[in-house]
Amino acid sequence: MAIINSMDIKKAMVLAGGNDQIELIKGLRKRFPGIEVILIDMNPNVRAREFADKMYVISTMDFDKVTEVARTEEIDLILSACGDQPMRTMAYVSEQLNLPCYISFEQSQNLTNKVLMKNRMIEGGIPTAKYHRFDINSEILIDGLNFPLIIKPSDNNGSKGIIKVNSKDEFAKAIDEAKKYTISGDLLVEEFKEGEEYSIEAFLKDEVPVIIFASKNIKVKNRDTFTICRNEYVPMLKHDLREKIENIVRSIGRVFCIDNVPLLIQMIVNGDEVNVIEFSARTGGGSKLFFIREMTGVDVIDNLIDITVGKTPEINPLPSSDHALINYLYTYPGVFTSIEGLEKLESEGYISATYLYKSFGSVISSSNYSSDRPVGFLIKGKSKEDIYKKIDYINSHIRILDNMGKDIMRHEIFGENEAK
Ligand SMILES: Nc1ncnc2c1ncn2[C@@H]1O[C@H](COP(=O)(O)OP(=O)(O)O)[C@@H](O)[C@H]1O
Ligand SMILES: [Mg+2]
Repeated sequence: MAIINSMDIKKAMVLAGGNDQIELIKGLRKRFPGIEVILIDMNPNVRAREFADKMYVISTMDFDKVTEVARTEEIDLILSACGDQPMRTMAYVSEQLNLPCYISFEQSQNLTNKVLMKNRMIEGGIPTAKYHRFDINSEILIDGLNFPLIIKPSDNNGSKGIIKVNSKDEFAKAIDEAKKYTISGDLLVEEFKEGEEYSIEAFLKDEVPVIIFASKNIKVKNRDTFTICRNEYVPMLKHDLREKIENIVRSIGRVFCIDNVPLLIQMIVNGDEVNVIEFSARTGGGSKLFFIREMTGVDVIDNLIDITVGKTPEINPLPSSDHALINYLYTYPGVFTSIEGLEKLESEGYISATYLYKSFGSVISSSNYSSDRPVGFLIKGKSKEDIYKKIDYINSHIRILDNMGKDIMRHEIFGENEAK
């Protein structure tokens, strides 16, 4: 791809208006002074609105409408960060309007549909759990698969409709749930892999793997759903594991025919065994970019802008030896009205950064999915114990209040840890 002259970029479209995209808008303004930014989101009240020059209230997943706006606005670039579905829209619109983009639409399909992805991983020898595909109207076949199993929709994300099943008796209920979250009707059943879940932020740069940031996703205990309560920084990967991950990054590039892309890889690690759950050619959401910047100095947004305009990014991670994690808050159903005790905890150094995902006044109806959490806290310490102590302290000094002044925070989720 030819390098695009910065002077030629005058107008960019950004898909979705969360905190991560605010950083993208800021990155674009820094790179292309005077640029005009058009924001697309179906929610008119998103935080990024005030950072953009103009907003269209339409779904980031509506290919036709987004293309139409992009065409009439005569944009020079369309970008998404941190989301799987907007990545497809970005690739689609770029192809339609002949705009620069780091992946093709076909590649984006292979990276967002779980059936297409699993097929390729298995054919290409990338380690992943055995699976079968079935659709909502056909019988589920599990020959060759061992319990426990996991049922998931092929075309959703954020752990929606993903259920673990321990025996055949549990199928009907799990399929009913998974059905709610599929548009195509395609479902997967795959072997459940025990182990720790790692989330790897990497980059494939001229076919060379660069591991930027590793963290573990800690799930809420004793649930059949997969609710992430914590994302824990891994300061140093063991040598063997690092090698395995680098090989996986190389294989992904080869099998999926992609290069010069960010890669977000989810994998289950159990001793020497590594299984890829899924991956995407994007950076992680949920404040990951702030976390990465803080712990390694790498600016993933800068890298994203680089590859979009055809430039090879300079990536030099300098991993901090500190321990750190983002602890996510969940609530009982209610109106998210205020957070009591926050400023004091920030000024006392218990909380290093606060990431607000919902605006005050939002109605929260469940505590199952990433999209349900109103807030996350970055907590740093010299050791894990140090961090656990801070979590306990924060937990007993903070309250999330609803519109009646009642504490709706799920303190038992916030305070969970291995030692308990
Ligand atoms: N085969 C598996 N073995 C163990 N856990 C799994 C498996 N597949 C999915 N999970 C769990 O479910 C979560 C969501 O599954 P994933 O395939 O990543 O879907 P989503 O697109 O919703 O993120 C994963 O983060 C992981 O914790
Ligand atoms: Mg996932």
